Amino acid sequence: MLLSVKYFLQRLWWAALAYGIALKYICCEFFGKKFGKKNCYGNAHPRQDGKEAVVTGGSRGIGLEIVNNLLQCGYNVVIGSSSSEASRTALQDSLLKKYPGCSVEVWHLDLASMKSVKDFADHYLSTKSACHLLVNNAGIMFVKEERTVDGYEKHFSVNYLGHCLLTQLLLPMLAKCSCRENHTRIVNCTSCIHFVGGRDVTDFQKQKNYSKYKAYIDSKLSQVMFTSSLQTYLDKNKINVKVNCVHPGVVDTDLMSSVLLIPRLGSIFFKVRTFYSL
Ligand SMILES: NC(=O)c1ccc[n+]([C@@H]2O[C@H](COP(=O)([O-])OP(=O)(O)OC[C@H]3O[C@@H](n4cnc5c(N)ncnc54)[C@H](OP(=O)(O)O)[C@@H]3O)[C@@H](O)[C@H]2O)c1
Repeated sequence: MLLSVKYFLQRLWWAALAYGIALKYICCEFFGKKFGKKNCYGNAHPRQDGKEAVVTGGSRGIGLEIVNNLLQCGYNVVIGSSSSEASRTALQDSLLKKYPGCSVEVWHLDLASMKSVKDFADHYLSTKSACHLLVNNAGIMFVKEERTVDGYEKHFSVNYLGHCLLTQLLLPMLAKCSCRENHTRIVNCTSCIHFVGGRDVTDFQKQKNYSKYKAYIDSKLSQVMFTSSLQTYLDKNKINVKVNCVHPGVVDTDLMSSVLLIPRLGSIFFKVRTFYSL
């Protein structure tokens, strides 16, 4: 009895932390939207014709806006998506229609399966000759407890581990395509919420006392730690690849509307997706 009260209070604590930090950033979005700049990115993206980019989770939300931007800049893009073949074909057709003459392909990638990540990378390495940009954007948030086929906690696998493996497999090609004047890049899409993570680093697999809030928070913290240690490794070995992580702001996407009590509220308080468009 005492133990279940303790677990209940711990879960409540993680929920309060997650919603507390979200509230702080939502206020920033709201006041920024009302009084700040409308689009901090402007129209100054240089052309990148013929360069190759990989975007995970490019089928919806922030990822799809990133893909739109890259195609407008002249990148050739491969999108990784776990959705059905029919949805992937429909997305590819609509992007080809929107940007005639562009090169965009939507391939199957399930970050909850390390075999799928490996198959995706193998296919890329055997069919493409270059990679200039890897955007590790796909993500899930606050999903109920689930183990992947490989036995990992699902947030940990989709948000962090799958991206870690994909980065490792594509790194030799990114390094090969880099030069001193024009380095290649890895961008990890993380979240401000990582600031409250890491209270118990011995239980990243959430074997005991699962909290969906803590699981998401720790997966994002893992991405930030990975970014930092990978850049240290690259610098040490004089590999000219830059790796960064980014908090995209609080954006009105499927990810956010699934956790809102009133989904329509998102469009009032959050960034709208076209914020990222050129
Ligand atoms: N929205 C925000 O306010 C916010 C704030 C901070 C950070 N972020 C981060 O930004 C990133 C994008 O979020 P979003 O808001 O754009 O989310 P979203 O609209 O829900 O899109 C999530 C994307 O991830 C992909 N995905 C989900 N599970 C996958 C899996 N098992 N394998 C491969 N791809 C998978 C989805 O593609 P398929 O369904 O086609 O597989 C989809 O394209 C996430 O990493 C999120 O944590 C978002």
